[in-house]
Amino acid sequence: MEHELQSLETEAREELSQLNGNSQLEEFRIRFLGRKGRFSTIMRQLGTVSSEDRPRLGQLANSVKKKVEKLFEEKSASLKRDSGTLDQDNISPDLTLPGRCPVKGKLHPVTQVMNEACQIFEKLGFSVAEGPDVETDHYNFEALNIPAHHPARDMHDTFYVSDSILLRTHTSPMQARIMEAQSPPLRVIAPGKVYRCDSDITHTAMFHQVEGFLVDKDISFADLKGILTVFTCEMFEQELPLRFRPSFFPFTEPSAEVDIACVMCNGVGCRICKNTGWLEILGSGMIDPEVFKMVGYDPEVYSGFAFGLGIERIAMLKYGIDDIRLFYENDQRFLSQF
Ligand code: PHE
Repeated sequence: MEHELQSLETEAREELSQLNGNSQLEEFRIRFLGRKGRFSTIMRQLGTVSSEDRPRLGQLANSVKKKVEKLFEEKSASLKRDSGTLDQDNISPDLTLPGRCPVKGKLHPVTQVMNEACQIFEKLGFSVAEGPDVETDHYNFEALNIPAHHPARDMHDTFYVSDSILLRTHTSPMQARIMEAQSPPLRVIAPGKVYRCDSDITHTAMFHQVEGFLVDKDISFADLKGILTVFTCEMFEQELPLRFRPSFFPFTEPSAEVDIACVMCNGVGCRICKNTGWLEILGSGMIDPEVFKMVGYDPEVYSGFAFGLGIERIAMLKYGIDDIRLFYENDQRFLSQF
């Protein structure tokens, strides 16, 4: 009987390790641990052994039974765990269920419009240059003909880092940086972030500009108009009315702000265009001779134009967005539309 108990334990252990699924487990339980199972048969046989051997064999039978019961419980628990994903007996996975679509990332609408603007100018022969967001007072102001205490500084609502370091308020410092380092002819765009202490439905403290400038012999205002007309046609995929409005920038002379007919109200007048029917999208002008002198170009030989585009403005017009702050709230319902 001792022998029988031992082989019973080995067999049970082996079968349990191999069985699969709840019905096989139940079948095992009946065969080994059930009322008419192998253990019950052995227990009944105990009555026939000598009273001398009975206590020892009884104890052995009990301990083997306990071990097998424990193994059975463990197996049953592990099957239950697995069936959380798949019941291996009855249910096979439903292959007709739709799969889970991987979520695909997208570029931010501002980045998309910025890339598009760069591509349009690259096709027109401009090369791309990037400069620092943290800029010196020299490049942001001095080199652009805006000396200390010049009233034009008031327009910029500057974030200062220290007396002479600041967050650039426009991308125009790149004009001075590039002209200083290279000689004409030049055809450059400089995209990037700019910062101003300002916030309402058309202004945020950080926004994006694309600076563009072209320097060569015999460049006139007509060239500026031509380039900007081509740009707006390409960007808005239609011929939109443009308005060149005389303006002032210390680094361009003459200067013009360029407006585009308000696409929100078709020029009728609305909240976005402040009832004027026009929306300003850029500042521009012929590069001031003073700027050329500071970078060592001869203004008698060279002329050029420059412009600075507001990218958020263009994105708002292109997509009919009426509040600039939507770009920076990171609401997926808004962002996923682009
Ligand atoms: N830097 C000017 C601004 O941010 C725009 C500008 C750029 C004007 C180039 C003229 C020439 O307002």
